[in-house]
Amino acid sequence: ATIFGGVLVFLVLFFLTKRLSFTRQRLPPSPLSLPLIGHLHLLTRMAHQSLQVLSNKYGPILYLKLGMVPTIVVSSPDMAREILKTHDAKFSSRPYFLVGEYFSYGYCGMGFTSGGEHWKNLRKLCATELFTINRIDSFEWVRKEEISRMISTIENTTGVINMRNLLITYGFNVMTETVMSKRFFCENGALLDADQAREFKKVSIETVEMALKFHISEFVPSYLRWIDWNIPKVKILQAKSDKFMQQIVQEHKRSKNSRKTKDFMDVLLESFTDSSNKQSLKAENTVKALTMELLAGGTDTSASSIEWALMELLLNPHTMVKAREELVKFVDLTNSTVNEGDLPKLTYLNAVIKETMRLHPPAPLLVPHKSTVECKIAGFDIPKGTTTIVNLYAIGRDPNVWENPTKFCPERFLGDSRIDVKGQNFELIPFGSGRRTCPGMILGLRNVQLVLANLIHRFEWALIPGREYGVEETTGTVNWAKTPLEVLKR
Ligand code: HEM
Repeated sequence: ATIFGGVLVFLVLFFLTKRLSFTRQRLPPSPLSLPLIGHLHLLTRMAHQSLQVLSNKYGPILYLKLGMVPTIVVSSPDMAREILKTHDAKFSSRPYFLVGEYFSYGYCGMGFTSGGEHWKNLRKLCATELFTINRIDSFEWVRKEEISRMISTIENTTGVINMRNLLITYGFNVMTETVMSKRFFCENGALLDADQAREFKKVSIETVEMALKFHISEFVPSYLRWIDWNIPKVKILQAKSDKFMQQIVQEHKRSKNSRKTKDFMDVLLESFTDSSNKQSLKAENTVKALTMELLAGGTDTSASSIEWALMELLLNPHTMVKAREELVKFVDLTNSTVNEGDLPKLTYLNAVIKETMRLHPPAPLLVPHKSTVECKIAGFDIPKGTTTIVNLYAIGRDPNVWENPTKFCPERFLGDSRIDVKGQNFELIPFGSGRRTCPGMILGLRNVQLVLANLIHRFEWALIPGREYGVEETTGTVNWAKTPLEVLKR
């Protein structure tokens, strides 16, 4: 009886202390929630927009329960700095993503991995081997060739030009050439090396569709994830994608000596073959997972930015005039293309790109982070394990930060403005900031600048008369315009 009494007293005290410590917590403001689903019903398919509306009402730091997952949403430069700089180390983990778990071969990749030694080693490899200026410069010939191909496709097309197809073809070929010395699309967007490319395209489309679906496992505690009805479908898709990747890696190893420039996959294979865990499954899975992430992370982000920039320039013709004037002034018109060496001179074009990324950040909610310890932000208690969303879309359109926030006005970045996109100015962080900042930023920016400069330098564009153009968006992992941009050459 004494033991039973002791256990009872202990349990009562334990639950009381837990409850007291819970009630003492001061969480950020939060709307009323519903049982089980929490605040999920407040989110539309345009999550960045519905979160902006909630932040306007509840303030720059907001607490939500998405299903059973505690979440904070921050939407001001100061709050973003708190998360990504002041408390960066505490917030650099990732929450659970169903697709992420399976497609990263159980967290062998970088983007979905919570942190730890493996993730740190991959980030280091990116910084010292893959995304160095020298390595990026060594692929200048690929970008030059793809630009020439894009220009000749445009020259040979009469009538309506679908810009999105051209940009995806350029972006995907540049990435697959850089990562694994392979092109998948020819000039008119048709597939080269048909069987392999068709399979890859199909798997990529199905994966994106799967990533966009509602997955119950992302909104319940980890011990309940098994109830997700999408798991078997994701496993089948992953097996298909793995078959493709396996084939690519084997082919790559065989053709090693035929390449004049080391590509990213060569570097990855060398790094992991050199290590002590040589032929281990983890080493091979890491190469496959990271390759997939680099292709996925590098294509649509740049292509959507270029499409938005062109759309805004055409909807605001005086900005197009200025961008063209600058190109005429600084780039030798006898040259067939704008070269990478010309890019730093193009101040107005760079302001156009900043303004585009302010209004249309390719990843409007970054990729969600997660806290690893309990922490205080702006006087509020943020529990350990809280999913953390930084709403770049809301920050970019905040009237307290920007004058006439919805107006496309590259001039705001000229004159005294020192704001750039590299992660130090928290009012404009399209690539994120801190430990999780985008490792491909320099390559991504280079592609956006180069393609945009060439499209404007070489051609005069016009909107199709009678057609309505607008700046609505689609839902997706990347923030594309709702309707692909179709234009005419003058
Ligand atoms: C992560 C934006 C191009 C590879 C990210 C993140 C953003 C971003 C917002 C998440 C940051 C965070 O979690 O806080 C962009 C934009 C691009 C671009 C706007 C171009 C305009 C690229 C390119 C590559 C790339 C060219 C690779 C070739 C990655 C990877 C991650 C990432 C692997 C995950 C990093 C990690 O979780 O540690 N990017 N990106 N991105 N990006 Fe990019």
